[in-house]
Amino acid sequence: MNQSLGGKVAIVTGAASGMGRAHAIRLAAEGAVAIVQDIDGEGLAGTEELIRREGGNVAAFVFDITDISAIDRMAADVLARFGGIDILVNNAGIGIDRVIEDIDQAAFDQMIGVHVKGSFFCGRAVVPAMKRRGWGRIINVSSRWAQAGHHMASDYIAAKGAILGLTKAWAKELAPFGITVNAIAPGGVWSRMVLENLGEEGVRREEREVPLGRWAQPEEIAESVAFLASDEAAFITGQVISPNGGKTIVGF
Ligand SMILES: NC(=O)c1ccc[n+]([C@@H]2O[C@H](COP(=O)([O-])OP(=O)(O)OC[C@H]3O[C@@H](n4cnc5c(N)ncnc54)[C@H](O)[C@@H]3O)[C@@H](O)[C@H]2O)c1
Repeated sequence: MNQSLGGKVAIVTGAASGMGRAHAIRLAAEGAVAIVQDIDGEGLAGTEELIRREGGNVAAFVFDITDISAIDRMAADVLARFGGIDILVNNAGIGIDRVIEDIDQAAFDQMIGVHVKGSFFCGRAVVPAMKRRGWGRIINVSSRWAQAGHHMASDYIAAKGAILGLTKAWAKELAPFGITVNAIAPGGVWSRMVLENLGEEGVRREEREVPLGRWAQPEEIAESVAFLASDEAAFITGQVISPNGGKTIVGF
């Protein structure tokens, strides 16, 4: 790695497993200080260990991303310890495949809380520091389903659709301050979340529907995040990259 993010400080939420872990490891490999956050302390300790083993600089925060005061405390602590916040990856998420009749108010509030409220208030917490440096990268994690729809999980899709709106709004609001805001909308990716929903057999079945014939590994999606965080992506803002193996090609 060429340490292209040396001197940068990157917060990745939901970094105890799956893609969040992969994003944090990838950004740390590029030289960023990785600030990893999750509600799952045990998994997060595993991420920390993997980053340290490769010589990376990492700090962990365990809390529920719907807790706004905990988000603000994290941002204040990171600023005090590392002097700035340059990159935010809003990745924490929950995904449950269920039909509309099975989504009650508490379930809906939780879905919107983790994805929309969590992402919004993480953004609010880091923007002042990014404005001070005149440089920032916010990468929001949406989903291919927000672009294409799905036959269930409409609460999840509503949340991921809101994240696309947030991305475009912030991209315009924050562009004058040197802050770019983009979204990734992955297709199927092997992770704990999907294995809990579909099981391995279910994922194998779904893989047959993908033009490239498979789902991605989390590390492949981390490449899109590393690109959007880089100086090479300086002129890209308000965009959605959808690494999905060709699944949203029209007519397929
Ligand atoms: N796997 C896929 O096919 C897929 C496709 C598109 C988008 N996504 C999105 O990618 C992101 C990462 O998901 P993943 O597939 O790697 O699953 P994952 O379950 O491995 O990772 C999600 C992480 O979010 C954390 N999290 C959940 N609730 C939280 C809370 N309240 N506070 C803090 N952390 C919390 C979990 O503990 C977990 O570590 C999610 O936003 C998901 O919606 C996944």
